[in-house]
Amino acid sequence: MRIFLDTANIDQIRQAAKLCIISGITTNPSLVSKEAAADYQNTIKEICSIIPGPVSTEVLVEGAQAMIEQGRLISTWAPNVVIKIPASDGRVLATSVLTRDNIKVNFTLCFSLNQALLGALAGATYVSPFVGRLDDIGHDGMQVVKDIVDVFNHYQLPTEVIAASIRHPQHCVAAAKAGAHIATVPYNVLMQMLHHPLTDIGVTRFLADWQSVSQR
Ligand code: E4P
Repeated sequence: MRIFLDTANIDQIRQAAKLCIISGITTNPSLVSKEAAADYQNTIKEICSIIPGPVSTEVLVEGAQAMIEQGRLISTWAPNVVIKIPASDGRVLATSVLTRDNIKVNFTLCFSLNQALLGALAGATYVSPFVGRLDDIGHDGMQVVKDIVDVFNHYQLPTEVIAASIRHPQHCVAAAKAGAHIATVPYNVLMQMLHHPLTDIGVTRFLADWQSVSQR
């Protein structure tokens, strides 16, 4: 399973890029709006220049035609931009049209297998089931990820599944076990994935043991 970072924060992206474990970035309008600059185009262009992998960028308009036009425009900002189109009716049309233009689409805000299936049939490169937001309303978000992965595998659909709305490290464990191609994680979750208290205790003990010998 590959890891994307789910943020528009340039410092976090630079820090994570140094680790060489991030394959791409997902942003959304809420994430960009949290940043001090909050200039949509410049923020996305800067992210695309730091991370060579796919950078999902959501359209800021409603209606199929407006989404198609804005998707085409955003796709010119950088070669690694992926256009995020929220799931449902007219948006499937926007996904089909952009895909036929050879523009990569992340079919986002997916909350059901049916939405993901239609996004895949429309040619989306990625579908993004939102695990945490489903859990928040008492559903089993990871079960939706599993169902989508199983069905895509069964029918050999090439669309990749991004487990999104990840809230904690156990979500990443479950996403990997479910066969998600990608988990997109906030920076704090990425750091939590790296840490284990027994690793810290082990390192301290190893160094202490070595120092006691080397000082003899
Ligand atoms: C993914 O593409 C989204 O940006 C993100 O995972 C949303 O997460 P949230 O539900 O924590 O806002």
